[in-house]
Amino acid sequence: MSQFKYNQGELFIEAYKATSLIEQYGTPLYVYSQAAFEEQFLAFDSAFKAVTHLTCYSVKANSNIHILSLLGKLGAGVDIVSGGELFRALEAGIAPSRIVYSGVGKKYQEIKDALSAQILLFNVESLAELFAINAVAAELNVIANVAFRINPDVDPKTHPYISTGMKNNKFGIAMENALDAYSEAIKLTNINPIGIDCHIGSQLTELAPFKEALEKIFAFYEKVVALGVDVQYIDFGGGLGIQYNQETPPKMHEFGEMVSKYFIDKNITLILEPGRSIAGNSGILLTEVVYTKETATKNFLIVDAAMNDLVRPSLYDSYHGLKEVVEHGRAETEYDIVGPICESGDFLAKERVLPQVLAKEHLVVFSAGAYGFCMSSNYNTRPRAAEILVSGENSRVIRRRETYEDLLALEK
Ligand code: LLP
Repeated sequence: MSQFKYNQGELFIEAYKATSLIEQYGTPLYVYSQAAFEEQFLAFDSAFKAVTHLTCYSVKANSNIHILSLLGKLGAGVDIVSGGELFRALEAGIAPSRIVYSGVGKKYQEIKDALSAQILLFNVESLAELFAINAVAAELNVIANVAFRINPDVDPKTHPYISTGMKNNKFGIAMENALDAYSEAIKLTNINPIGIDCHIGSQLTELAPFKEALEKIFAFYEKVVALGVDVQYIDFGGGLGIQYNQETPPKMHEFGEMVSKYFIDKNITLILEPGRSIAGNSGILLTEVVYTKETATKNFLIVDAAMNDLVRPSLYDSYHGLKEVVEHGRAETEYDIVGPICESGDFLAKERVLPQVLAKEHLVVFSAGAYGFCMSSNYNTRPRAAEILVSGENSRVIRRRETYEDLLALEK
């Protein structure tokens, strides 16, 4: 059930009126629904109930510490990709035994911190990284649990910037070299290979590429077991897409059933790393129209949210639904909705048909809960937006709006 609904022409987030939030906290404003986060997480997690599994929410999608602790309380583990994310996850109270660490460029201190915290496992992406982890583990006199991220060379049919499991991507170890990686790992004194990992991309809207990857993983699994490796975990990554516009991604239960089939009656714990499917449609961005501007060829809505707040349209040409916060029922017009940043690439939407909107009115940008705030920046010396968590009739600030002083604080 959507927690972002119109009632008598006004947008509500759960039981809270969007206009009240705007009056209280200003714009641009990220607003999340606690119920939506909870529903999405529980729906995802229960889609795998037939098999032993651990749902490790992908911190990168929305890393606010309050979101992490909310999901942690529901039983989520996390997938991290940096020392910073490790720090956040531990501060949020996530048990180290529920943390998996992915990423191609883990540095010495990051490896050391993760080993000291006793995380569940490292998803290792190269032999060089394997040797580095072994060396740090030896220094600390501990054993590092690892899985190799294998690159199955599957086309996820998504945007090229967010496909990760194809031959020419920087991620993982090519299938043909992966067995040698396990042979190397067995020889190392401070490494314990216990899993296989794979993540083929993000915003997948079909099941077929997932299936193709699973077939390859399980064929490979047999070979790894034959080497004498005790494969206790298979991490299948994240990647399930959401509806931004007209997409029809698989339902969570369809995805869950398809993946679970491969794990039934096997003594393997399935790890999943969903990000977008939990967070994407659990948050919105509210923005105010600063000016309207008509040129010979275009009608512009110049709004106070820019590419520094939500970079997805500029970076991936991605679509986000946009509507008036209060419906006025005016005639429709085609608009480019742009921010105040000094770049022509600064837009939230192009050639979008909306009922006519006036200056000082507000728009909602939908599906902004994942890869929204966490990808924001201070470009053009713009303070980052506030983040609000709504639950029923309550709202609370989970990240305050940055001030100009905040922006200069690190330069003093
Ligand atoms: N695990 C690994 C190893 C990943 O690389 C990713 C995402 C995930 C899990 C989570 O995938 P999800 O369930 O969210 O699809 N900034 C881009 C998305 C980048 C995704 C990168 N990796 C966007 O805004 O579309």
